[in-house]
Amino acid sequence: MNLNNQWMQRDLAVLWHPCTQMKDHQQLPLIPIKRGEGVWLEDFEGKRYIDAISSWWVNLFGHANQRINKRIKDQIDQLEHVILAGFSHQPVIELSERLIEITPESLTRCFYADNGSSCIEVALKMSFHYWLNRGLPKKKRFITLTNSYHGETIAAMSIGDVPLFTETYKALLLDSIKVPSPDCYLRPDGISWEEHSRNMFLAMEQALAENHNTVAAVIIEPLIQGAGGMRMYHPVYLELLRESCDRYNVHLIHDEIAVGFGRTGSMFACEQACICPDFLCLSKALTGGYLPLAAVVTTEDVYSAFYDDYQTLRAFLHSHSYTGNPLACAAALATLDIFKEDNVIVKNKALAQCMTKATANLIDHPHISEVRQTGMIMAIEMVQDKTNKAAYPWQERRGLKVFKHALKRGALLRPLGSVVYLLPPYVITPEQISFLVEIASEGIDIATNSKVSVAMSKDFYPNFRDPG
Ligand SMILES: Cc1ncc(COP(=O)(O)O)c(C=O)c1O
Repeated sequence: MNLNNQWMQRDLAVLWHPCTQMKDHQQLPLIPIKRGEGVWLEDFEGKRYIDAISSWWVNLFGHANQRINKRIKDQIDQLEHVILAGFSHQPVIELSERLIEITPESLTRCFYADNGSSCIEVALKMSFHYWLNRGLPKKKRFITLTNSYHGETIAAMSIGDVPLFTETYKALLLDSIKVPSPDCYLRPDGISWEEHSRNMFLAMEQALAENHNTVAAVIIEPLIQGAGGMRMYHPVYLELLRESCDRYNVHLIHDEIAVGFGRTGSMFACEQACICPDFLCLSKALTGGYLPLAAVVTTEDVYSAFYDDYQTLRAFLHSHSYTGNPLACAAALATLDIFKEDNVIVKNKALAQCMTKATANLIDHPHISEVRQTGMIMAIEMVQDKTNKAAYPWQERRGLKVFKHALKRGALLRPLGSVVYLLPPYVITPEQISFLVEIASEGIDIATNSKVSVAMSKDFYPNFRDPG
């Protein structure tokens, strides 16, 4: 038995993997990774894979990045962790100063959590509690977009709308108000992204007009709905939303957990609409893909609503044991240094253009209905019928065929249902981008031509998208 197999057998005897039907591994090999370097991951037999999805969207500057490694190594000899209530430390203070410096001006306070979903919980709780402290206890609902994703904890799922993740747990979820997404894939022919986004905003305006007295906040994934299939929309929607939230006295929460740190082309997506949310949620790439950390960055107005004598019980008594972990903060500081020293946002423009060029011909493919891009994220939508954008039945798992082909060729692509996407680390080269696009298009050929024979189960989830 080769080394990969040995590790796979040991793994399958004791592990339960995330977002996985474990039975799939009766046929699908599990890839044990021994080491990483730059965009490459290497298994125990020396086979290498380009990490085209930045290991679930977290990695920015490659695996085993020497600059980030050094900062963590230096930090580990100083302080590995300390409770953040009543105590503090240098990396968390410096990181908070840096985050406040690079986010929009009105954001002046950082509260930490240790993963994206709990960061969303913090923002929701803070928003609700703010209104309570300001004497408006009826403001306790949240408006969200259809097809949105904000994480896997109960409240985060409640404001999400990807049926694959939420449908099963419907009985447990909080009530939220769902407004149709401005998703520009669904725009009518001949309508621009901007026009469609403006038109779709009318439903949001109406929801706010009707419900603002009971709504604490609107929460959105700005510009790109990630887990919902990398669906994109125009910044004008964010501009209109900010204006309406102000008018209706409702908070605006930007979940930039997936899109922050340059993914959309600017450091933060909100910059493209020149607006400032009341809460900015950050995680994933915050540490360059090294360690779990999340931050909710908010305003002085929000902070001041909690600032009072202890006996008033206005304090935000929320905590996680590893809040503001020094090693994670050190990784984040090294990441922010790289952004500055290497002028990353400017350099990425050339990389984004390479992605545009490399995929330019794909739209001619008979089963590709759209090739869309925002900054460093490129998505390719496979369809059954291009003329009417008819989707493949989710049971056919077309994306899984692309995934399998990519593994053979040396790439980690993990389509979201029938959406193949590239979300690479920023250290990728133009040649590696071309290599990935070649693999993706071969995979799409295989996935769309092959005869599919799957037992169709009853249509339990009408809008189900299989993550592959
Ligand atoms: C937009 C968005 N919000 C929240 C989350 C949840 O983050 P985590 O997986 O760290 O809990 C994700 C994860 O993919 C995400 O894409």
